[in-house]
Amino acid sequence: MENNTHRFIICFFLFILHVRSNDLVNLNEHFLATYARARDHLLSQTSPLIICIRDNIIIHYRGKRYEEQVIPKSYHDLKAISHIPFKIYLTVMFDTVGLSEDNSIELQRYLDNIQTIRNILQFPQDILQNQYDIIDLSIRYLNTILSTKLVDRKELKQFCEEAHRLFALNIELAAQMHLDLLDEKVRVWYYERFNETERDALRVTIIGPKTARHGFLEKTYFYHLIGEKREGKHIIYAENVESEEKALEVLGIWMLDAKAAAMFFEGDTERLHRDLLSDATAKYIKGLFKKSKIEL
Ligand SMILES: *[C@@H]1O[C@H](CO)[C@@H](O)[C@H](O)[C@H]1NC(C)=O
Repeated sequence: MENNTHRFIICFFLFILHVRSNDLVNLNEHFLATYARARDHLLSQTSPLIICIRDNIIIHYRGKRYEEQVIPKSYHDLKAISHIPFKIYLTVMFDTVGLSEDNSIELQRYLDNIQTIRNILQFPQDILQNQYDIIDLSIRYLNTILSTKLVDRKELKQFCEEAHRLFALNIELAAQMHLDLLDEKVRVWYYERFNETERDALRVTIIGPKTARHGFLEKTYFYHLIGEKREGKHIIYAENVESEEKALEVLGIWMLDAKAAAMFFEGDTERLHRDLLSDATAKYIKGLFKKSKIEL
């Protein structure tokens, strides 16, 4: 009997705890809804906006949306050619005792492929030769390993070094092409269409679906255009964002946090951009490790 009473009391308190925590969850939902509303309102008041997404920039300006391509097709073509020697290296890198049968079949097919591509290559005249050079180097190397069935380490290294010399030029060309087109498109907006107030209010969101390397060029370009040294006021960079909608959300959150932080943290607009828990964690963790060392 006494046991049952016990159990009842425990159940009762667990029930109260449950209700209480649900109340708090509901309460927090109010916060989240208000937060989203404030964020969207702030976004609707922000103009102009530029979002760099994949090959394009999207401009929101005076209530309208515009889209411009800023990465030329030849940028991707140059990259594809530069990847040929890299692909060959990746295929044979573990074939230390000789070319495996599977790789041999695969590379024979690949060789046919690039030979076909060589005949239909389309590039501006001044950069065409470098593309032939990369392909010819790859064809020569493939012919060697396919006929000997050996992957000599020294030869492989030599091939990679030679390839590097050639595709370094491609990387330079790709960057130049991208910057030229980006500049051509952005300059008109920034200097001709935006007035001074708008230039000052401009927000640029650069999104990269994969690594931080992606979008680095655009970051550098906009830093120079706007004359800024770091992320925050005009430029923000968002990784792992796939869509325009998500990019806008990230920007809205960034702006709203800066605004709120100025109120709550004595003008420190950056405070909410750091993890709010990070200062508290740094403080508490010191004690945590001191304690465990003593216990040991
Ligand atoms: C710039 O354009 C905005 C409209 O987007 C207008 O409200 C503002 O007064 C203009 N500023 C100047 C300096 O012309």
